[in-house]
Amino acid sequence: MKEVIAQRVRAVPPSGIRKFFDVAATMDDVISLGIGEPDFTTPQHICQAGILSLQRGETSYTCNAGMIELREGLASHLADLYGVHYDPAEELLITVGVSEALHLALLTVVEPGDEVIIPEPCFVSYKPGIIFAGGTPVVVEAKVENGFQIRAGEIERAITPKTKAILIGYPNNPTGAVMDRERLTEIASLAEKYDLIVLSDEIYDRLVYGVPHVCFSSLPNMSERTILLGGFSKSYAMTGWRLGYAAAPAEILAGMHKVHQYIIMCAPTAAQVAAIEALRNGEDAVQEMLHQYDQRRRVIVQGLNSIGMPCFEPRGAFYAFPSIRNTSLSSEEFSERLLFEQKVAVVPGNAFGDSGEGFVRCSYATSLVDIEEALGRMEDFTKKHGK
Ligand SMILES: Cc1ncc(COP(=O)(O)O)c(C=O)c1O
Repeated sequence: MKEVIAQRVRAVPPSGIRKFFDVAATMDDVISLGIGEPDFTTPQHICQAGILSLQRGETSYTCNAGMIELREGLASHLADLYGVHYDPAEELLITVGVSEALHLALLTVVEPGDEVIIPEPCFVSYKPGIIFAGGTPVVVEAKVENGFQIRAGEIERAITPKTKAILIGYPNNPTGAVMDRERLTEIASLAEKYDLIVLSDEIYDRLVYGVPHVCFSSLPNMSERTILLGGFSKSYAMTGWRLGYAAAPAEILAGMHKVHQYIIMCAPTAAQVAAIEALRNGEDAVQEMLHQYDQRRRVIVQGLNSIGMPCFEPRGAFYAFPSIRNTSLSSEEFSERLLFEQKVAVVPGNAFGDSGEGFVRCSYATSLVDIEEALGRMEDFTKKHGK
């Protein structure tokens, strides 16, 4: 029989995150620091808006681009938060999570053979998304000594005549790093100098602790070459509703809209109604969750540092990314043994690319009690396996 599976699919390994979840799910008494989603349920008033929409019988498709009320709400939200201005009719598209928006963006701008630069460690979908779109991912390492902020000079060295775009994701999964304005402005200058598109995944934009989030398209001259990707999953604890958006210049957005029309048609209707409520009345809940994440962040970072797992201070998202170099284990060995010996699930750093080796990702989207118990178990583990 001929090879059935297309090369672009064979070229991509299964996600290194799920592998650990699947094993952990079969064991008792496991504390999971592996999960990349809020442990909160969606605020009740947002759920209620979705339920009422279903009860009113709003069970059909919406317009392909998403409900205009939602796009209008989003346009004001982005203008209020970041001073960026998007036309709800032509420059905003409602998608099935940032996941869909990311793939639409890549399918729309990447020609076969184009190179897309990605700072690493990075979210697991970036490389596969580029490969599925026929492009070539070009990895640039974001180093711990630079607070995991990617440096423009390092990006510039990776630029070739084939480079089409840079794909950045800050606040970052898995490191928790936030880019400051100065560093982002240097990347913006490169984008202008080499005429590149910037895909900016800002799904964690609301989850920053004591530092501002700088929206990439708010930088001078950047709105014309940025595809801004955002969503509801993390800020409003709405992962299961599957709702995100893309904001981009009208021409790019029209291309993405075309792909979205043929692949998805529209995002779920009840989820769109719930998202309108989230934008209108969700701010208190965002602030409350942020406050709780921040408390946990302080506990986990301090705890990891005190048990011999040096940890850069994350200022965004809900991940800590400590070094495991005080043991002689690889990140996979560390994660596997920690799971079997101490029943704590973390994600090996190499799941986020080779640059993540020597680290593990610990999510603090879990209760303080569990974080403290996990730290105790990890201390026993590091004592046993320390060099
Ligand atoms: C950096 C990043 N981008 C995108 C996504 C996908 O989010 P969504 O639920 O909106 O598809 C995630 C989910 O973990 C993520 O961490």
